[in-house]
Amino acid sequence: MRVKKITAIIGLQWGDEGKGKVVDFLAEEYDVVVRFQGGANAGHTVVIGDKPHIFHLIPSGLLRRGKEGLIGAGVVVDPEILIEEIEMIEKISGPLEGRLFIDGRAPVVMPYHKLEDRWEEELRGGIGTTKRGIGQAYRDHYARFGIRIGDLLNAEMRRRVLKKSLEFNNQILASRYGKPPLDFSELDEKLEKFSEILSPYITDGVEYLKKKIEAGKSILFEGAQGSLLDITFGTYPYVTSSHPLSGGVPTGAGIPPNLIGNVVGITKSYTTRVGRGPFPTEMLDEEAETIRKRGNEYGATTGRPRRCGWLDLVALKYTTYLNGVTSIVMTKLDVLSGLEKVKVAIKYELHGRETDVFPYSSDELVKVRPIYRTFNGWELDESVSDKDSLPENARSFIDFVEEYLGIPIIYVSVGPEREKIIKYR
Ligand code: IMP
Repeated sequence: MRVKKITAIIGLQWGDEGKGKVVDFLAEEYDVVVRFQGGANAGHTVVIGDKPHIFHLIPSGLLRRGKEGLIGAGVVVDPEILIEEIEMIEKISGPLEGRLFIDGRAPVVMPYHKLEDRWEEELRGGIGTTKRGIGQAYRDHYARFGIRIGDLLNAEMRRRVLKKSLEFNNQILASRYGKPPLDFSELDEKLEKFSEILSPYITDGVEYLKKKIEAGKSILFEGAQGSLLDITFGTYPYVTSSHPLSGGVPTGAGIPPNLIGNVVGITKSYTTRVGRGPFPTEMLDEEAETIRKRGNEYGATTGRPRRCGWLDLVALKYTTYLNGVTSIVMTKLDVLSGLEKVKVAIKYELHGRETDVFPYSSDELVKVRPIYRTFNGWELDESVSDKDSLPENARSFIDFVEEYLGIPIIYVSVGPEREKIIKYR
Protein backbone atom coordinates (compact mmCIF):
# COMPACT_ATOMS: atom_id res chain seq x y z
CA MET A 1 0.00 0.00 0.00
CA ARG A 2 1.36 3.45 -0.87
CA VAL A 3 0.76 5.27 2.37
CA LYS A 4 1.24 9.01 2.16
CA LYS A 5 0.53 11.33 5.02
CA ILE A 6 -2.16 10.14 7.47
CA THR A 7 -2.71 12.49 10.39
CA ALA A 8 -5.20 12.71 13.24
CA ILE A 9 -6.08 16.05 14.87
CA ILE A 10 -7.16 15.46 18.44
CA GLY A 11 -8.46 17.74 21.20
CA LEU A 12 -6.43 17.21 24.38
CA GLN A 13 -8.82 18.88 26.84
CA TRP A 14 -12.63 19.04 27.19
CA GLY A 15 -13.23 20.16 23.60
CA ASP A 16 -13.26 23.65 22.07
CA GLU A 17 -9.46 23.69 21.79
CA GLY A 18 -9.65 25.38 18.39
CA LYS A 19 -9.44 22.24 16.27
CA GLY A 20 -11.61 23.75 13.54
CA LYS A 21 -9.10 26.48 12.87
CA VAL A 22 -6.15 24.06 12.90
CA VAL A 23 -7.93 21.61 10.58
CA ASP A 24 -8.81 24.43 8.22
CA PHE A 25 -5.20 25.58 8.24
CA LEU A 26 -3.67 22.10 7.80
CA ALA A 27 -6.32 20.92 5.32
CA GLU A 28 -4.45 22.78 2.60
CA GLU A 29 -1.79 20.05 2.70
CA TYR A 30 -4.24 17.13 2.62
CA ASP A 31 -6.47 15.60 -0.05
CA VAL A 32 -9.22 14.19 2.19
CA VAL A 33 -10.60 15.29 5.58
CA VAL A 34 -12.56 12.79 7.70
CA ARG A 35 -14.80 13.00 10.79
CA PHE A 36 -14.76 9.76 12.79
CA GLN A 37 -16.88 10.27 15.94
CA GLY A 38 -19.41 12.48 17.68
CA GLY A 39 -22.17 14.27 15.87
CA ALA A 40 -23.80 17.68 15.71
CA ASN A 41 -22.76 18.26 19.34
CA ALA A 42 -19.50 19.55 17.86
CA GLY A 43 -19.20 23.14 16.74
CA HIS A 44 -16.04 23.88 14.81
CA THR A 45 -15.61 27.54 14.11
CA VAL A 46 -13.57 28.76 11.17
CA VAL A 47 -13.18 32.51 10.67
CA ILE A 48 -12.68 33.64 7.08
CA GLY A 49 -12.16 37.37 6.68
CA ASP A 50 -14.13 38.47 9.70
CA LYS A 51 -16.97 36.00 9.19
CA PRO A 52 -17.26 33.00 11.52
CA HIS A 53 -18.51 29.74 9.99
CA ILE A 54 -19.68 27.04 12.36
CA PHE A 55 -19.61 23.38 11.35
CA HIS A 56 -21.39 20.68 13.29
CA LEU A 57 -21.13 17.61 11.09
CA ILE A 58 -19.29 18.25 7.85
CA PRO A 59 -15.48 18.13 8.15
CA SER A 60 -14.42 21.78 8.31
CA GLY A 61 -11.63 21.10 5.79
CA LEU A 62 -14.32 21.09 3.08
CA LEU A 63 -14.47 24.87 3.24
CA ARG A 64 -11.52 24.72 0.91
CA ARG A 65 -12.42 24.16 -2.71
CA GLY A 66 -11.21 20.93 -4.24
CA LYS A 67 -10.94 19.05 -0.96
CA GLU A 68 -12.88 15.87 -0.34
CA GLY A 69 -14.41 14.80 2.95
CA LEU A 70 -15.95 11.76 4.61
CA ILE A 71 -18.36 11.52 7.52
CA GLY A 72 -17.17 8.20 8.92
CA ALA A 73 -19.14 5.24 10.28
CA GLY A 74 -18.54 6.31 13.88
CA VAL A 75 -20.35 9.65 13.50
CA VAL A 76 -24.01 9.91 14.54
CA VAL A 77 -25.68 11.86 11.74
CA ASP A 78 -28.62 14.21 12.19
CA PRO A 79 -29.94 14.45 8.61
CA GLU A 80 -31.76 17.73 9.24
CA ILE A 81 -28.60 19.49 10.39
CA LEU A 82 -26.49 17.85 7.70
CA ILE A 83 -28.77 19.10 4.92
CA GLU A 84 -28.68 22.66 6.30
CA GLU A 85 -24.91 22.50 6.47
CA ILE A 86 -24.54 21.21 2.92
CA GLU A 87 -26.51 24.23 1.71
CA MET A 88 -24.36 26.61 3.76
CA ILE A 89 -21.04 25.22 2.53
CA GLU A 90 -22.13 25.05 -1.09
CA LYS A 91 -22.60 28.84 -0.96
CA ILE A 92 -18.97 29.25 0.14
CA SER A 93 -17.00 26.61 -1.67
CA GLY A 94 -19.20 25.27 -4.49
CA PRO A 95 -21.09 22.00 -5.02
CA LEU A 96 -20.41 19.17 -2.59
CA GLU A 97 -21.60 16.27 -4.73
CA GLY A 98 -18.52 14.22 -5.56
CA ARG A 99 -16.61 15.89 -2.70
CA LEU A 100 -18.63 14.90 0.37
CA PHE A 101 -19.22 11.28 1.30
CA ILE A 102 -21.05 9.64 4.21
CA ASP A 103 -20.41 6.07 5.30
CA GLY A 104 -23.70 4.17 5.02
CA ARG A 105 -22.87 2.56 8.38
CA ALA A 106 -23.24 5.85 10.30
CA PRO A 107 -26.09 5.81 12.87
CA VAL A 108 -28.93 8.29 12.38
CA VAL A 109 -29.97 10.75 15.09
CA MET A 110 -33.77 10.66 15.11
CA PRO A 111 -36.14 13.40 16.35
CA TYR A 112 -37.05 11.25 19.39
CA HIS A 113 -33.37 11.05 20.39
CA LYS A 114 -33.24 14.83 20.65
CA LEU A 115 -36.49 14.95 22.64
CA GLU A 116 -35.26 12.27 25.03
CA ASP A 117 -31.92 14.05 25.49
CA ARG A 118 -33.77 17.25 26.43
CA TRP A 119 -36.22 15.56 28.77
CA GLU A 120 -33.53 13.42 30.38
CA GLU A 121 -31.55 16.57 31.17
CA GLU A 122 -34.65 18.14 32.71
CA LEU A 123 -35.56 15.01 34.63
CA ARG A 124 -32.21 14.25 36.24
CA GLY A 125 -30.63 17.70 36.41
CA GLY A 126 -28.44 16.18 33.74
CA ILE A 127 -24.78 16.37 32.90
CA GLY A 128 -25.17 19.44 30.70
CA THR A 129 -25.36 17.80 27.27
CA THR A 130 -25.76 19.75 24.05
CA LYS A 131 -29.26 18.20 23.72
CA ARG A 132 -28.45 16.94 20.22
CA GLY A 133 -29.55 13.37 20.98
CA ILE A 134 -25.98 12.07 20.85
CA GLY A 135 -26.07 9.63 23.79
CA GLN A 136 -29.49 8.31 22.77
CA ALA A 137 -28.44 7.68 19.16
CA TYR A 138 -25.31 5.80 20.28
CA ARG A 139 -27.40 3.91 22.85
CA ASP A 140 -29.74 2.57 20.16
CA HIS A 141 -26.77 1.72 17.97
CA TYR A 142 -25.00 -0.28 20.68
CA ALA A 143 -28.29 -1.94 21.65
CA ARG A 144 -28.47 -3.00 17.98
CA PHE A 145 -31.74 -1.45 17.04
CA GLY A 146 -30.43 1.79 15.62
CA ILE A 147 -31.12 3.15 12.13
CA ARG A 148 -28.07 3.55 9.90
CA ILE A 149 -27.96 6.19 7.21
CA GLY A 150 -27.48 3.56 4.49
CA ASP A 151 -30.74 1.89 5.60
CA LEU A 152 -32.63 4.94 4.35
CA LEU A 153 -31.86 4.08 0.73
CA ASN A 154 -34.06 0.99 0.69
CA ALA A 155 -37.74 1.59 1.51
CA GLU A 156 -38.39 -1.90 2.86
CA MET A 157 -35.34 -1.84 5.11
CA ARG A 158 -35.99 1.74 6.20
CA ARG A 159 -39.47 0.85 7.42
CA ARG A 160 -38.27 -2.32 9.12
CA VAL A 161 -35.55 -0.60 11.17
CA LEU A 162 -37.73 2.42 11.92
CA LYS A 163 -40.45 0.14 13.29
CA LYS A 164 -38.02 -1.55 15.68
CA SER A 165 -36.39 1.68 16.83
CA LEU A 166 -39.66 3.58 17.22
CA GLU A 167 -41.28 0.80 19.21
CA PHE A 168 -38.54 1.04 21.85
CA ASN A 169 -38.33 4.83 21.85
CA ASN A 170 -42.10 5.38 22.06
CA GLN A 171 -42.10 3.22 25.18
CA ILE A 172 -39.40 5.41 26.67
CA LEU A 173 -41.28 8.57 25.73
CA ALA A 174 -44.40 7.28 27.48
CA SER A 175 -43.06 5.49 30.54
CA ARG A 176 -40.07 7.64 31.46
CA TYR A 177 -41.19 11.08 30.31
CA GLY A 178 -45.00 10.74 30.18
CA LYS A 179 -45.10 12.00 26.57
CA PRO A 180 -47.30 10.92 23.63
CA PRO A 181 -45.86 8.53 21.03
CA LEU A 182 -44.46 9.76 17.73
CA ASP A 183 -46.20 8.74 14.51
CA PHE A 184 -44.57 6.08 12.32
CA SER A 185 -45.82 7.40 8.95
CA GLU A 186 -44.73 10.96 9.64
CA LEU A 187 -41.24 9.82 10.57
CA ASP A 188 -41.06 7.48 7.61
CA GLU A 189 -41.99 10.30 5.24
CA LYS A 190 -39.27 12.45 6.76
CA LEU A 191 -36.71 9.71 6.34
CA GLU A 192 -37.75 9.18 2.74
CA LYS A 193 -37.21 12.87 2.03
CA PHE A 194 -33.80 12.77 3.71
CA SER A 195 -32.83 9.75 1.67
CA GLU A 196 -33.73 11.54 -1.59
CA ILE A 197 -31.50 14.49 -0.68
CA LEU A 198 -28.63 12.54 0.86
CA SER A 199 -28.43 9.50 -1.43
CA PRO A 200 -25.74 11.01 -3.72
CA TYR A 201 -23.42 11.28 -0.72
CA ILE A 202 -23.95 7.89 0.95
CA THR A 203 -21.26 5.34 0.21
CA ASP A 204 -19.10 2.54 1.65
CA GLY A 205 -16.65 4.58 3.72
CA VAL A 206 -14.17 1.73 4.16
CA GLU A 207 -13.85 1.20 0.41
CA TYR A 208 -13.71 4.93 -0.17
CA LEU A 209 -10.76 5.42 2.22
CA LYS A 210 -9.02 2.23 1.09
CA LYS A 211 -8.97 3.49 -2.50
CA LYS A 212 -7.66 6.88 -1.39
CA ILE A 213 -4.91 5.25 0.67
CA GLU A 214 -3.95 2.94 -2.20
CA ALA A 215 -3.80 5.92 -4.53
CA GLY A 216 -1.33 7.57 -2.14
CA LYS A 217 -3.66 10.41 -1.09
CA SER A 218 -3.03 12.24 2.16
CA ILE A 219 -5.77 12.07 4.79
CA LEU A 220 -6.57 14.23 7.79
CA PHE A 221 -8.81 12.86 10.56
CA GLU A 222 -10.65 15.62 12.36
CA GLY A 223 -11.51 14.85 15.99
CA ALA A 224 -14.53 16.43 17.63
CA GLN A 225 -14.92 17.17 21.37
CA GLY A 226 -11.81 16.41 23.43
CA SER A 227 -9.96 13.51 25.05
CA LEU A 228 -11.30 14.25 28.55
CA LEU A 229 -14.83 13.80 27.17
CA ASP A 230 -14.04 10.26 25.94
CA ILE A 231 -16.79 7.87 27.04
CA THR A 232 -14.28 5.49 28.65
CA PHE A 233 -11.17 7.52 29.50
CA GLY A 234 -12.79 10.89 30.16
CA THR A 235 -14.26 12.30 33.35
CA TYR A 236 -17.14 9.80 33.45
CA PRO A 237 -20.10 10.28 33.65
CA TYR A 238 -19.54 13.90 32.59
CA VAL A 239 -18.45 12.86 29.12
CA THR A 240 -19.80 12.48 25.61
CA SER A 241 -20.83 9.10 24.21
CA SER A 242 -18.04 8.55 21.68
CA HIS A 243 -14.25 8.14 21.49
CA PRO A 244 -12.57 11.45 20.65
CA LEU A 245 -9.17 9.80 21.28
CA SER A 246 -6.93 8.82 18.35
CA GLY A 247 -7.99 5.22 19.09
CA GLY A 248 -11.40 6.30 17.78
CA VAL A 249 -9.96 6.87 14.29
CA PRO A 250 -9.59 3.24 13.18
CA THR A 251 -12.84 2.15 14.84
CA GLY A 252 -14.79 5.21 13.73
CA ALA A 253 -13.51 5.62 10.19
CA GLY A 254 -12.51 2.07 9.28
CA ILE A 255 -8.78 2.20 8.60
CA PRO A 256 -6.03 -0.05 10.01
CA PRO A 257 -4.62 1.56 13.20
CA ASN A 258 -0.99 1.27 12.13
CA LEU A 259 -1.54 3.62 9.19
CA ILE A 260 -1.89 6.70 11.40
CA GLY A 261 1.44 8.44 11.01
CA ASN A 262 1.02 11.67 12.99
CA VAL A 263 -1.19 12.56 15.91
CA VAL A 264 -1.43 16.31 16.33
CA GLY A 265 -2.80 17.24 19.75
CA ILE A 266 -4.54 20.58 20.19
CA THR A 267 -4.55 22.45 23.48
CA LYS A 268 -5.48 25.98 24.40
CA SER A 269 -2.96 27.98 26.42
CA TYR A 270 -5.54 27.67 29.21
CA THR A 271 -8.49 25.31 29.75
CA THR A 272 -12.25 25.48 29.26
CA ARG A 273 -15.13 23.11 29.77
CA VAL A 274 -18.88 23.31 29.09
CA GLY A 275 -21.43 21.35 31.00
CA ARG A 276 -21.01 19.87 34.43
CA GLY A 277 -18.16 17.78 35.84
CA PRO A 278 -14.87 18.11 37.71
CA PHE A 279 -12.41 20.79 36.58
CA PRO A 280 -9.35 21.02 38.88
CA THR A 281 -7.85 24.25 37.54
CA GLU A 282 -11.12 26.18 37.24
CA MET A 283 -10.64 29.92 37.88
CA LEU A 284 -12.56 32.07 40.32
CA ASP A 285 -15.44 34.08 38.92
CA GLU A 286 -13.67 37.34 38.14
CA GLU A 287 -10.60 35.76 36.55
CA ALA A 288 -12.77 33.40 34.53
CA GLU A 289 -14.91 36.28 33.30
CA THR A 290 -11.85 38.09 31.95
CA ILE A 291 -10.73 35.04 29.97
CA ARG A 292 -14.30 34.26 28.85
CA LYS A 293 -14.78 37.74 27.40
CA ARG A 294 -11.37 37.96 25.75
CA GLY A 295 -11.45 34.42 24.40
CA ASN A 296 -15.14 34.61 23.42
CA GLU A 297 -15.66 31.45 25.44
CA TYR A 298 -19.27 30.70 24.64
CA GLY A 299 -20.38 27.35 23.19
CA ALA A 300 -20.42 27.28 19.36
CA THR A 301 -23.34 24.82 19.42
CA THR A 302 -25.35 25.93 22.45
CA GLY A 303 -24.13 29.47 23.19
CA ARG A 304 -23.51 28.49 26.84
CA PRO A 305 -20.75 30.38 28.70
CA ARG A 306 -17.76 28.08 29.03
CA ARG A 307 -16.11 27.50 32.38
CA CYS A 308 -12.50 28.76 32.27
CA GLY A 309 -9.34 27.65 34.06
CA TRP A 310 -5.56 27.52 33.90
CA LEU A 311 -3.63 25.09 31.76
CA ASP A 312 -3.49 21.66 33.42
CA LEU A 313 -0.34 19.73 32.59
CA VAL A 314 -1.32 16.71 34.70
CA ALA A 315 -4.37 16.31 32.46
CA LEU A 316 -2.34 16.99 29.31
CA LYS A 317 0.29 14.42 30.23
CA TYR A 318 -2.53 11.87 30.53
CA THR A 319 -4.18 12.75 27.22
CA THR A 320 -0.96 13.13 25.19
CA TYR A 321 -0.03 9.62 26.37
CA LEU A 322 -3.44 8.11 25.59
CA ASN A 323 -3.41 9.57 22.09
CA GLY A 324 0.23 8.91 21.24
CA VAL A 325 0.57 12.58 20.38
CA THR A 326 3.54 13.30 18.09
CA SER A 327 3.23 17.10 17.98
CA ILE A 328 1.16 19.83 19.58
CA VAL A 329 -0.56 23.01 18.42
CA MET A 330 -1.19 25.53 21.19
CA THR A 331 -4.12 27.86 20.51
CA LYS A 332 -5.39 31.19 21.85
CA LEU A 333 -2.10 32.43 23.25
CA ASP A 334 -3.36 35.97 22.56
CA VAL A 335 -6.14 35.55 25.14
CA LEU A 336 -3.60 35.44 27.97
CA SER A 337 -1.91 38.62 26.74
CA GLY A 338 -1.93 41.44 29.29
CA LEU A 339 -2.29 39.24 32.38
CA GLU A 340 0.21 40.00 35.11
CA LYS A 341 0.76 36.33 35.97
CA VAL A 342 -0.03 33.12 34.13
CA LYS A 343 -0.41 29.84 36.01
CA VAL A 344 0.07 26.23 34.96
CA ALA A 345 -0.80 23.15 37.05
CA ILE A 346 2.20 20.82 37.26
CA LYS A 347 0.97 18.38 39.95
CA TYR A 348 -2.07 17.63 42.06
CA GLU A 349 -2.36 17.23 45.79
CA LEU A 350 -4.77 14.47 46.76
CA HIS A 351 -5.36 13.11 50.27
CA GLY A 352 -2.36 15.09 51.51
CA ARG A 353 0.02 13.64 48.93
CA GLU A 354 1.46 15.00 45.70
CA THR A 355 0.68 13.10 42.53
CA ASP A 356 1.05 13.49 38.80
CA VAL A 357 -1.60 10.86 38.05
CA PHE A 358 -4.95 12.02 36.64
CA PRO A 359 -7.51 10.14 38.81
CA TYR A 360 -9.97 7.95 36.92
CA SER A 361 -12.82 8.65 39.31
CA SER A 362 -14.67 11.96 39.05
CA ASP A 363 -15.30 11.72 42.81
CA GLU A 364 -11.54 11.80 43.35
CA LEU A 365 -10.88 14.41 40.68
CA VAL A 366 -13.12 16.95 42.43
CA LYS A 367 -10.94 16.58 45.53
CA VAL A 368 -7.56 17.34 43.95
CA ARG A 369 -5.84 20.64 44.62
CA PRO A 370 -3.64 21.77 41.72
CA ILE A 371 -0.05 22.77 42.45
CA TYR A 372 0.86 25.63 40.15
CA ARG A 373 3.94 27.06 38.58
CA THR A 374 3.52 30.80 37.96
CA PHE A 375 4.94 32.68 34.95
CA ASN A 376 5.29 36.40 34.39
CA GLY A 377 2.75 37.65 31.86
CA TRP A 378 3.29 39.13 28.41
CA GLU A 379 1.72 41.48 25.87
CA LEU A 380 1.10 40.33 22.32
CA ASP A 381 0.50 43.02 19.76
CA GLU A 382 -0.98 42.82 16.30
CA SER A 383 2.45 42.63 14.68
CA VAL A 384 3.35 39.21 16.10
CA SER A 385 4.01 37.12 13.02
CA ASP A 386 6.78 34.67 13.84
CA LYS A 387 8.49 32.93 16.72
CA ASP A 388 11.14 35.63 17.10
CA SER A 389 8.54 38.34 17.56
CA LEU A 390 6.92 36.52 20.48
CA PRO A 391 7.75 38.13 23.85
CA GLU A 392 10.34 36.24 25.87
CA ASN A 393 7.91 35.48 28.71
CA ALA A 394 5.49 33.88 26.27
CA ARG A 395 8.30 31.76 24.85
CA SER A 396 9.38 30.64 28.35
CA PHE A 397 5.80 29.55 29.00
CA ILE A 398 5.56 27.58 25.72
CA ASP A 399 9.02 26.04 26.16
CA PHE A 400 8.11 24.91 29.68
CA VAL A 401 4.94 23.17 28.48
CA GLU A 402 6.88 21.53 25.67
CA GLU A 403 9.56 20.27 28.02
CA TYR A 404 7.07 19.02 30.62
CA LEU A 405 5.19 17.01 27.99
CA GLY A 406 8.26 16.00 26.01
CA ILE A 407 6.48 16.74 22.73
CA PRO A 408 7.27 19.55 20.24
CA ILE A 409 4.82 22.44 19.99
CA ILE A 410 4.86 23.00 16.24
CA TYR A 411 2.41 25.91 15.92
CA VAL A 412 1.03 28.58 18.21
CA SER A 413 -2.20 30.34 17.31
CA VAL A 414 -2.40 34.04 18.22
CA GLY A 415 -5.83 35.11 16.95
CA PRO A 416 -9.04 33.69 15.50
CA GLU A 417 -8.28 34.49 11.84
CA ARG A 418 -6.93 31.88 9.43
CA GLU A 419 -3.54 33.56 9.09
CA LYS A 420 -2.92 34.19 12.82
CA ILE A 421 -0.82 31.11 13.38
CA ILE A 422 2.92 31.01 14.05
CA LYS A 423 5.31 28.20 13.22
CA TYR A 424 7.12 27.41 16.47
CA ARG A 425 9.21 24.35 15.54
P1 IMP B 1 -23.32 15.46 24.57
O1 IMP B 1 -22.13 15.14 23.74
O2 IMP B 1 -24.24 16.45 23.91
O3 IMP B 1 -24.04 14.23 25.03
O4 IMP B 1 -22.80 16.18 25.91
C1 IMP B 1 -22.00 15.52 26.88
C2 IMP B 1 -20.93 16.43 27.43
O5 IMP B 1 -19.99 16.72 26.39
C3 IMP B 1 -21.43 17.79 27.92
O6 IMP B 1 -20.65 18.21 29.01
C4 IMP B 1 -21.18 18.70 26.72
O7 IMP B 1 -21.04 20.06 27.12
C5 IMP B 1 -19.88 18.14 26.22
N1 IMP B 1 -19.66 18.40 24.78
C6 IMP B 1 -20.22 17.77 23.73
N2 IMP B 1 -19.76 18.26 22.57
C7 IMP B 1 -18.87 19.20 22.89
C8 IMP B 1 -18.02 20.05 22.11
O8 IMP B 1 -17.97 20.00 20.88
N3 IMP B 1 -17.23 20.91 22.82
C9 IMP B 1 -17.22 20.94 24.17
N4 IMP B 1 -17.99 20.17 24.93
C10 IMP B 1 -18.80 19.30 24.31
